[in-house]
Amino acid sequence: MSAQRWTLRGAHTEYTVTVPAHGRWLELVAWGPHGVSEGPSPVAYDGPVPFLTAGDAAPIEYATDADRPFTGADLVVETPSGQRRVGFGHTGARADADGRELAVDFADRVTGLRATVHYRVPAGTDVVQRWVELTNGGGYPLRVVRALSGGFNVPTPHGALLSHQWGQWSQEFQLSHVELGHGTFSIGSSQGVPGHLHVPWLAVRDTAAPTGAAWGMALAWTGSWEISAERDTGGLTRVRAGRQLVDGPLELAPGERLGLPVVAGAYSPDGLDGLARVWHTHQRLLAADRLTPRPVLYNSWEATYFAVEAQSQLALARIAAELGVETFVVDDGWFVGRNDDTAGLGDWTPDPAKFPAGFDAFIADVRALGLNFGLWVEPECVNPKSALYAAHPDWVYSVDGRPLTPVRNQYLLDLGRPEVAEFLHSTVDGLLRRYDIDYLKWDFNRPRTEPGRPGGIGPVDLDGAHVANLHRIYERLRHAHPGVLIEACAGGGARTDLAMAARADVFWPSDNTGPLDRLAIQYGFLHANAPHLLSSWVTDAPGLFDTRPRSLAFRFVLAMAGVLGVGADIRAWTAAERAEAAGWIARYKEIRDVVTHGEVHLIGGPDQARCAVQYTAADESRVVVLAWHTGHLDGTGLLPSRPVRLPLRGLDPVARYRHGDRHYSGSHLGVVGLPVQWSPTHDADLIVLTRD
Ligand code: DGJ
Repeated sequence: MSAQRWTLRGAHTEYTVTVPAHGRWLELVAWGPHGVSEGPSPVAYDGPVPFLTAGDAAPIEYATDADRPFTGADLVVETPSGQRRVGFGHTGARADADGRELAVDFADRVTGLRATVHYRVPAGTDVVQRWVELTNGGGYPLRVVRALSGGFNVPTPHGALLSHQWGQWSQEFQLSHVELGHGTFSIGSSQGVPGHLHVPWLAVRDTAAPTGAAWGMALAWTGSWEISAERDTGGLTRVRAGRQLVDGPLELAPGERLGLPVVAGAYSPDGLDGLARVWHTHQRLLAADRLTPRPVLYNSWEATYFAVEAQSQLALARIAAELGVETFVVDDGWFVGRNDDTAGLGDWTPDPAKFPAGFDAFIADVRALGLNFGLWVEPECVNPKSALYAAHPDWVYSVDGRPLTPVRNQYLLDLGRPEVAEFLHSTVDGLLRRYDIDYLKWDFNRPRTEPGRPGGIGPVDLDGAHVANLHRIYERLRHAHPGVLIEACAGGGARTDLAMAARADVFWPSDNTGPLDRLAIQYGFLHANAPHLLSSWVTDAPGLFDTRPRSLAFRFVLAMAGVLGVGADIRAWTAAERAEAAGWIARYKEIRDVVTHGEVHLIGGPDQARCAVQYTAADESRVVVLAWHTGHLDGTGLLPSRPVRLPLRGLDPVARYRHGDRHYSGSHLGVVGLPVQWSPTHDADLIVLTRD
């Protein structure tokens, strides 16, 4: 058999793979800008491999433990007698004519296992989506011990510069960089949810060219996951990504199929900032016709916490309406038994004591103010103190004879069970049918601790079943209630991955809304996620977390970087504060189409003197710049201080731009930069440049 080769083509990039003449695996030829495959492959290797095998050094796309016995396999499968080393032979391929889809088939002669490696490049993007389908075509069950979605091979001759996002509750999306000379770097989650600790996202650059080529990987998987990067002695960095099989090996019966999640790869010639734009384009495509400017919302969580009741909520709603808010969201605390976090979860009936005139009447009163109505739910969880738990104690994950582990005083429902999934769907669907609801905040405040269900789990993929039903329920709800926007939240940002980006309309990235902390959180978030997914509230000073003083303007400009919301106790705001807020909300409504659809450039950073986000409208008629003062608020005026200059990007150098009575050339804005002058009272700015 002679070698076969295919090129997938993105908007500006190509991804070329080959099955060598030996037919045992698929390997990368090149991944980069159009034309990059014409020339000797930067990743191929056919030199000596002392004490290794050829596959250990080859840029294999999907390696079994037979292909790569020493340097890391993507797939490990075991027979009933415990034998491993599945080895594939190429059996066929299907590619479309315009280089956007490819499927390459392999089969193992000994076990009968078949694997199809799929590729898709969504139109107009520079993202290659990859996934694998396994089928047991043999006569006995197989145990899938490791099943990643694939490996990416990146040339890093001088060293690999890895960028990742770590965190914890209230401090998610902390962008961090690691130089990897040799060895392995790995991140992941075993929590049954992407988690607060790491984001399933990684970027790789060569240490010698940090502003040049950047390759990114991100997972579309809402359960446990892992991503690792290893740089070999020849300078090749191999990134492997996929599910972490936390429930142990998966059983694959004869004839059974296992679909593995999509791992997406992105390429940009323009460093991390360019890579962010590639991800944004991709996520905007995932949002499809739901990519519309989001309403300005008010959420009452921080104003009333669990003390929800009609009168105080309506008092907040009246002021919110005056400010120009469009959707009023009642957070946790509206349902029976829910006066704190120890009880009530699972019993999704409005508390008549809190809404004496009825929940319908309350919603009608909110709507009469001209507001849409939103509601918080956390349907996967249950408090032991609830009617649901009393009726169905067997519905939570548990291990026979072992105590349950409460987290935030709650247990987790075993969503993989059909009756639980049905309950959950009909509960949320029922709320949406019964009440006039336009917005749903779906929360999730505990990871899975117990790896079992009553009676023993047997060979059940709990993680996979939970995620599959979660996705299905989101899809069913969106289909049945297309007008309802869904905000995905998991105690802040613990559930953000590409699969959720395709199913939720917006993410709540963190409970921390303290200005400078939030700036860092949003800066990380925007590297991986588009602005339409970034929910952000203006909350009260000093707040719960970051008490460093910043103006109300700073808080508004910060929340305008994505989807503007207000979460402060606006009953306590002065007339002047309310007037200022109304002004900001009105301005946001003027620019939110550019924030939603515009090309994003991240300028400087929260740890630098310059920190701004630029959004350029597709027709370049408007450029919106949001800028924040990251330094001390005192001391200015003691020395002559020049304005901070924000170098704008991607503008036509000969075009002219106007802001008030100031005029700039594109060249000036790019090379010298847009001036902003900070003072102790002026610590943030929204500047809209109009092209002449
Ligand atoms: C955690 C979320 O992140 C908060 O915004 C809020 O909804 C609380 N849960 C409510 O319990």
